[in-house]
Amino acid sequence: MTDSQETEVSEAQIAVHWREEEYYQPPPAFVAQANANDPAIFDRFTEDKFPGCFTEYADLLTWDRRWDTVLDTSSPPFWKWFVGGRLNACYNCVDRHAQADPGKTAVIFVPELESDEVVRVSYGDLLRQVSEFAALLRDFCGLRAGDRVTLHMPMVPELPVVMLACARLGVIHSQVFAGFSGHACGTRIADSGSRVLITMDGYYRAGAMLDHKAKADEALEEAARQGQEVDKVLVWRRRPGEYASQAPMQAGRDFFVDEILPRYAGATVEPVSMDATAPLFLMYTSGTTGRPKGAQHSTGGYLAYVTGTSKYYQDIHPDDVYWCMADIGWITGHSYIVYGPLALGTTTVIYEGVPNYPDAGRPWRIAQQLGVNIFHTSPTSIRMLRKVGPEEPKKYDYHFKHMTTVGEPIEPEVWRWYHSEVGKGEAVIVDTWWQTETGGFLGSTLPALQPMKPGSCGPAVLGIYPVIYDEDGNQVPAGSGRAGNICIRNPWPGIMQTIWGQPERFIDVYYRKYNKDPQSTDWRDWPYFAGDGAVQAADGYFRILGRVDDVINVAGHRLGTKELESAALTGPEVAEAAAVPVMDDIRGRVVEMYVSLKPGAPGEGAEEKVTAAIETEIGKIARPKNVWVVADMPKTRSGKIMRRVIASVSNFADVGDVTTLANPEVVESIRRQVQSAKLAKGELPRELSEAEYEEISRYGAAE
Ligand code: PRX
Repeated sequence: MTDSQETEVSEAQIAVHWREEEYYQPPPAFVAQANANDPAIFDRFTEDKFPGCFTEYADLLTWDRRWDTVLDTSSPPFWKWFVGGRLNACYNCVDRHAQADPGKTAVIFVPELESDEVVRVSYGDLLRQVSEFAALLRDFCGLRAGDRVTLHMPMVPELPVVMLACARLGVIHSQVFAGFSGHACGTRIADSGSRVLITMDGYYRAGAMLDHKAKADEALEEAARQGQEVDKVLVWRRRPGEYASQAPMQAGRDFFVDEILPRYAGATVEPVSMDATAPLFLMYTSGTTGRPKGAQHSTGGYLAYVTGTSKYYQDIHPDDVYWCMADIGWITGHSYIVYGPLALGTTTVIYEGVPNYPDAGRPWRIAQQLGVNIFHTSPTSIRMLRKVGPEEPKKYDYHFKHMTTVGEPIEPEVWRWYHSEVGKGEAVIVDTWWQTETGGFLGSTLPALQPMKPGSCGPAVLGIYPVIYDEDGNQVPAGSGRAGNICIRNPWPGIMQTIWGQPERFIDVYYRKYNKDPQSTDWRDWPYFAGDGAVQAADGYFRILGRVDDVINVAGHRLGTKELESAALTGPEVAEAAAVPVMDDIRGRVVEMYVSLKPGAPGEGAEEKVTAAIETEIGKIARPKNVWVVADMPKTRSGKIMRRVIASVSNFADVGDVTTLANPEVVESIRRQVQSAKLAKGELPRELSEAEYEEISRYGAAE
């Protein structure tokens, strides 16, 4: 076998033999009130109705000018939706509801400390706050439509205010998850070309106030190193008037929002009428190479898609109290805390802190107190809440009609706990499969019309036509029991427009692999490559197996292998670094790092230095479980590190055939070193499922 053959494991060769799970039917009470409970909806979204079917979603919005063309495919794969149409996203999420019912609650903010009062923001208040902040952005910062602004804000009600104020002006926001380091924020400031950073002094996390402003200074330093100067930093204070950070405010550059904002009291700023194809925001995500990708989402297509899917898949009605526990710093929060729910005029809950603070009953207390009836979270949170408080949900008198799981595959056993204990058997569940790039859902059951099947996201959502291809582009049929690469055959309004500033990379990553003809302007020739392995059962339901590229999904957050490795390599002593996933009962996957040191390097404290480098470059979410300093890495004859071999070692899995390696002898010594250290720490071998085993054995093949 040659080196290249060895690294290419064809998905199609792998048969997957898991048990078929039973169907669960939606409760009749849910069906009776659902937005989509008439099967006629399927007829409106059949493939022959594409792309016109999506006007149903666009019609949920208020347009300044109706579009001329639903889908323009003239420059593939840079699809343009609702061309000629004009609208404002902020108007759609705020003004129209404030006009209809100004006293209606738009946002409920739940601070982490239970001693702090819950804050209710009505649509009328939201309009006032958004207008005043838009005036500040325009008149104090000089921002105009098309400019980019980086936000590095925690889960506070000021965050949607800032996003919507940007949208009001046509300014493109780029919110960076607050848990990311200053360095990671700086890279994103530079990549997006932002002159303004909006941040906060601190916020509560697990009962402690974190110093967040300190990260802004690191971010600006890194941005400057990459050639991007920032002229204003707007600092919200978690408690106006009290500064919670140790970091000094730099005169002329840093401004407290609560000191500037009163100048704009009562200001009205008209929403700027934007082209449907104007970018609304950037959301950075990880990929195979180190440079983050700024997924660019559009105003008209994106907003239509998240509004339509919020209505039918989240089953949001204006009178619901909807709580998505994700962070607004991720795409889930943009689409399904802010834009979708607010476009539908419902009440959306924002919770500041961690789910188990001060105890495992907190989410259920919040649900009871606020009358939450739609709940949305990730498998990692469900696993964690199940572990720390399996009996907690039944102690509280709340009633969910609908629950979501998103971001990672959910084990059927965990799904059943969610259904029976959290949902009390009364709630329907949607397992929603999608990505930062896709804007909204791709795979899910339509909750009143399609039964649930634990562990499967369901069939494709309305208007999405997937296909599973093997490595050679042959279709892997439903019911064959074989896995392959899931692709979407057609464009849809929520798909990102491009990677900000990297159009070639956009084509390379998502379209090159299965493109049938680079000259073609027929969308049928441009399947979207999602980067996930999947298998489709005979009933059409998909089971998503996980990434096929070198991305590790930690607690539903994507971390690029290359990003982790280049962070480790910033240490002057580190010669080589490799990141691998380790299966984890709570977080799905965690990261382990392998490093080898430069000859003569002292090696003292190398583990801590690598961990610190990763926290500095990326953030605490990427903190490795273990760092192994090894004498040498297993390599192919062409010098490529065999990540699947060390991934197998870290997971106590069979390392497979290593005889073709350049240095097969190192494998056994690494195995002994790592596994005995793990056993000594009490990290015991864990049985791997077939899909997990398969993920490890192909790990690193994307390079
Ligand atoms: O591997 C899939 C996994 O998360 C990846 C997308 O991550 P991100 O862009 O951060 O967006 C997360 C929130 C949409 C996918 O490529 N993933 C997402 N949802 C599911 C999932 N895996 C299995 N089941 C899901 N429901």
